[in-house]
Amino acid sequence: MAQLLTVSRAAHLIGVTRASLQKKIGEGELPSFDGMISSEDLTRLFPDVRLEDTGAFERITKIKEESFGRRVRERVLPNQAILAQRLAAQSEELEDVRRHLAHYHDLIEALRERIDFMAGDAPSEQLLTLANFLDSGLAGVLGSDEPIDTVAVMDDMLRVVSPHVTVKPSGREFFIEGSETVLQAALRSGLAPSYGCGNGNCGLCKARVVSGKLRQTHPGDYPLSANERAQGYALLCSHTAVSDIVVEMLEANSPDDIPEQHVVVKVKSATPLDAGVMLLHLQTPRTNRLRFLAGQSVTLGVSGSSADFRAEYPLASCPCDDRNLLFHIRNADGDDFASRLFAGAVKSGDAVSVWGPWGDFVLRKDSTRPLVFVICDTGFAPMKSLIEHALAIDATDTMVMVWAATRADGHYLANQCRAWAEALDDFRYFPLVAADGPAAGTAAVASVIANIPNLADFDVYVAGAAAFTETAVKALRAAGVVDPYLSSIAC
Ligand code: FES
Repeated sequence: MAQLLTVSRAAHLIGVTRASLQKKIGEGELPSFDGMISSEDLTRLFPDVRLEDTGAFERITKIKEESFGRRVRERVLPNQAILAQRLAAQSEELEDVRRHLAHYHDLIEALRERIDFMAGDAPSEQLLTLANFLDSGLAGVLGSDEPIDTVAVMDDMLRVVSPHVTVKPSGREFFIEGSETVLQAALRSGLAPSYGCGNGNCGLCKARVVSGKLRQTHPGDYPLSANERAQGYALLCSHTAVSDIVVEMLEANSPDDIPEQHVVVKVKSATPLDAGVMLLHLQTPRTNRLRFLAGQSVTLGVSGSSADFRAEYPLASCPCDDRNLLFHIRNADGDDFASRLFAGAVKSGDAVSVWGPWGDFVLRKDSTRPLVFVICDTGFAPMKSLIEHALAIDATDTMVMVWAATRADGHYLANQCRAWAEALDDFRYFPLVAADGPAAGTAAVASVIANIPNLADFDVYVAGAAAFTETAVKALRAAGVVDPYLSSIAC
């Protein structure tokens, strides 16, 4: 019998993105019932599906993992203890099914005997019809040569390696890879769950597990009451799943839901990306991470001998790796923090204060429209964060990026952009060079208009210096892009 699968489960199994399956559903190629897909329809549409046939999925997974921190990359397979528990949970389920089947089989046999008994020597026509119906039904089941449902077999196998999580009330779904905690998997999948320390101490990730089983991965100090435990509450930062689970989880719906934080972090490294841009890598303590949304900014501060130096920068990294914070810092006039950084006065191991996060330059919630990113110079930083987040949540298959640089060698992470364009089926990258911010704004929007005939269907994001964003936003409005599909940040 065909098995019903959620869209994300089906996408995971056959190795395509969720957005591409949703497109096929929208175009009527793939039927869906209450948001579920039948394994039969899936194998009809992807007849050659094999477990190892996951090219597109792997390409995207590789991109995501390259973006994410080592903590996330280290996961591949669950450790032995977790694997054993997941297998035990699946065996219990199998045993339950076996018990039910044996019960139904006994019931049918008893019914057949009862019919024979009632029929006696002169069976009525109805009893004979019923007996024949049962005999042919049983023969059909026992002698069935129906092909095995490959997708269902793969689903069972993948459930051991990668349990599925459904979040209530949002209905979002994600998968736990290897030995990840539920919190780590939620962040990697682009969700914005409530949490604080990430270490079992603050209780902010407390959530109620409605169904399924968890296993503690490391101890935490936060005490859950006996009543909370009885109701199924657990700390998501210190548990993984051993079966598919449904969990009631608090999520941030907008930047307003993210609390203002102050974290003292250490400089991990400061590496020039080119002559005028520095990659600053900061690392938070294990027990005090920064919670933020992709695209947001923070204020960084260092103490000098006679004064404190502070400046606001957009994060260039993904919230999924909340310990490793990346920034692309330009050596701009009047920016004392940047001057100290470029002068070598902010070094590896130094303490830096981080306040924030700030701003509402984030992806439009739940939008599945295609995305266009219009960038000038280090406006690339918040866009990188947004793009990585869009990939994590499978927001859309179609992304266009126009990056204007005001120096000939200003595309300081061009390789990263080319890698996205090569790996993703519908990611287009257009670099260009212009004399200054306003010229870059005009040229970038001209490129957008020339390359996207259906611009009104896109969500448009603009980032760069104020002179650039002002020109670009004005030109985009003149081209018919309207709120709420247009967001910009001057940085
Ligand atoms: S995030 Fe602090 S206890 Fe889980």
